[in-house]
Amino acid sequence: MKFPEFSMLFTLVFAAFFSFSWASLPHQNFLHCLSLRSNDSSSFSKLIFTPANSSYESVLESTIRNLRFNSTDTPKPLVIVTPTQISHFQATIYCSRKHGLQTRTRSGGHDYEGLSFVAHVPFVVIDLVNFRSVDVDVENRVAWVQTGAILGELYYRIAEKSKTLAFAGGVFHTIGVGGHISGGGFGLLFRKYGTAGDNVIDAQFIDVNGRILDRKSMGEDLFWAIRGGGGGSFGIVLAWKLSIVSVPAIVTEFTVSRTLEQKAIELVHRWQSIAHDFPDEMYPTVALRSINSTQDGRKTVVASFGSVFLGTIDELLPLMQDRFPELGLSRQDCNEMSWIESILSESGFSNQPLEILLNRTIRTPISTPYYKIKSDYVKEPISKTGLKGLFSRLTDEAAASTTIVFFAYGGIMDRIPEDATPFPHRAGNLYKIFYNTGWLEENKVNSETHLDWARGTYSYMAPFVSKSPREAYINYRDLDIGSNNLGYTSYEQASIWGRKYFKDNFERLAHVKTWIDQENFFNHEQSIPPLY
Ligand SMILES: Cc1cc2nc3c(=O)[nH]c(=O)nc-3n(C[C@H](O)[C@H](O)[C@H](O)COP(=O)(O)OP(=O)(O)OC[C@H]3O[C@@H](n4cnc5c(N)ncnc54)[C@H](O)[C@@H]3O)c2cc1C
Ligand SMILES: *[C@@H]1O[C@H](CO)[C@@H](O)[C@H](O)[C@H]1NC(C)=O
Ligand SMILES: *[C@@H]1O[C@H](CO)[C@@H](O)[C@H](O)[C@H]1NC(C)=O
Ligand SMILES: *[C@@H]1O[C@H](CO)[C@@H](O)[C@H](O)[C@H]1NC(C)=O
Ligand SMILES: *[C@@H]1O[C@H](CO)[C@@H](O)[C@H](O)[C@H]1NC(C)=O
Ligand SMILES: *[C@@H]1O[C@H](CO)[C@@H](O)[C@H](O)[C@H]1NC(C)=O
Repeated sequence: MKFPEFSMLFTLVFAAFFSFSWASLPHQNFLHCLSLRSNDSSSFSKLIFTPANSSYESVLESTIRNLRFNSTDTPKPLVIVTPTQISHFQATIYCSRKHGLQTRTRSGGHDYEGLSFVAHVPFVVIDLVNFRSVDVDVENRVAWVQTGAILGELYYRIAEKSKTLAFAGGVFHTIGVGGHISGGGFGLLFRKYGTAGDNVIDAQFIDVNGRILDRKSMGEDLFWAIRGGGGGSFGIVLAWKLSIVSVPAIVTEFTVSRTLEQKAIELVHRWQSIAHDFPDEMYPTVALRSINSTQDGRKTVVASFGSVFLGTIDELLPLMQDRFPELGLSRQDCNEMSWIESILSESGFSNQPLEILLNRTIRTPISTPYYKIKSDYVKEPISKTGLKGLFSRLTDEAAASTTIVFFAYGGIMDRIPEDATPFPHRAGNLYKIFYNTGWLEENKVNSETHLDWARGTYSYMAPFVSKSPREAYINYRDLDIGSNNLGYTSYEQASIWGRKYFKDNFERLAHVKTWIDQENFFNHEQSIPPLY
């Protein structure tokens, strides 16, 4: 060491330069703020990930379901925070506001447009993975669930205590209760017990000022808004108190598939006008996709009629014989099981151990890696000609990995008023259409082809579905119908997409937003805007 002084000076200057330049980055200020705001800063720092931490990528990617949002040009968060206690949420909200960072809250990460972990401004993700206790009280038929829990964890904890109790939520077990219940949420039991949001009886919520509210202290307007008004608009729901419902010990699942040659169009045409009136104990669906005919290898379309029925085969068969004899349902098409087994089976994990429900990262075998989702509501049966056009589009090359599912409405959905919760799609709907345009590999040309197909099919369907507004389901998020980023920033402009998701409930949602978060801190491409 010939010039120790110089070397030391150099080191100091070098260090000062770097700490200065780092400190000027918003997220360094943010991190500094977090450490000052927390009473447990050394253990809190283990819950904070920046791209400099080696586990940042695995944490970020852990719940990316749609690989369209796992590309190198997808914008990434500056910081991911994984709170374990309420003070961590308070610190993160406070410091994000102070340093002008947007926050996105991620529960199960299933948002179809990736809005829980993708933003086009500097942002922080609050990932709820460590905030997921589930407390089931069988006696009183309620459960308190923290919002980082997935549906599978909730279902498993209920089934552990009783096979004849359940929660009325979605099918795929990796869906987070945070986003799902915030957007309504429907599954096998929705025609009997309503949406997941209909089954919320209390909540714990944190607002933009870090206040912790429950149903009583938040008031009925906000409590109404968070049970279907969509995630990411009002604040963060920390936990839900849910109502647990009864299911029989034995349920029956069936699928009957018919190709075009086996009168699929006639059967779907008939299904449209009768499925809505099936008993509340049924969950009637028809899935449409193309297959290569086993006879001549040419493309045909297959319609798979299915349901989980809350009852036995012996109860189901006469019912179907009476209501839908054309389908020719037979005993061999049916399987009896417990309700919890039907959850596994419906998501492609039949006969697997129940513990799969606790696996947060496993991907359902019946989903493609890339997809674009759209939805529609149908009020009048579509003509055979109309259906024929849809079937014919399904045989396009671009639709080779696409599935379109019709979910019959009716049951209790007809009896819950449109304004009971923000979820407005109630009486008057025969069924909902779920368009799942899927593809297997990602490249620009390929993806554009599939997106074009999805959009083209959506325009083809316009004459056959709900109008003014053309209704859509918020949990099937679709930025094509309008986005705050595209200049829909005023209440009037946002109401173009807002009315599709919420109909006349949109205005009340905007009132609640104005009251709870007027500065619009909780903001994303389709968040509810304040009125002014
Ligand atoms: C494979 C698959 C199957 C599906 N099946 C069904 C189904 O059967 N029935 C159905 O109704 N839907 C279904 N969906 C749609 C699903 O309900 C929605 O995508 C839902 O919003 C996902 O919730 P999440 O917590 O997993 O998503 P996330 O991406 O984590 O969150 C979705 C939105 O809610 C916000 N959010 C998350 N947590 C909170 C919170 N605690 N407080 C406030 N805001 C929050 C996010 O910021 C984001 O805006 C399915 C989706 C997928 C990918
Ligand atoms: C930090 O403060 C919160 C209340 O704000 C409290 O619940 C928590 O237990 C405290 N943690 C520690 C480690 O003291
Ligand atoms: C990430 O790196 C920072 C700086 O080295 C460290 O303080 C923090 O604990 C790391 N986070 C995790 C989750 O290990
Ligand atoms: C997501 O992208 C990363 C980085 O390219 C890659 O390592 C990872 O395997 C991808 N995830 C999946 C599930 O394909
Ligand atoms: C269907 O046929 C096409 C063309 O003949 C072929 O490329 C494709 O792999 C087949 N699909 C399946 C699922 O067999
Ligand atoms: C979840 O499932 C995946 C895929 O089968 C597996 O690799 C992983 O180990 C499982 N995780 C747990 C915690 O069991």
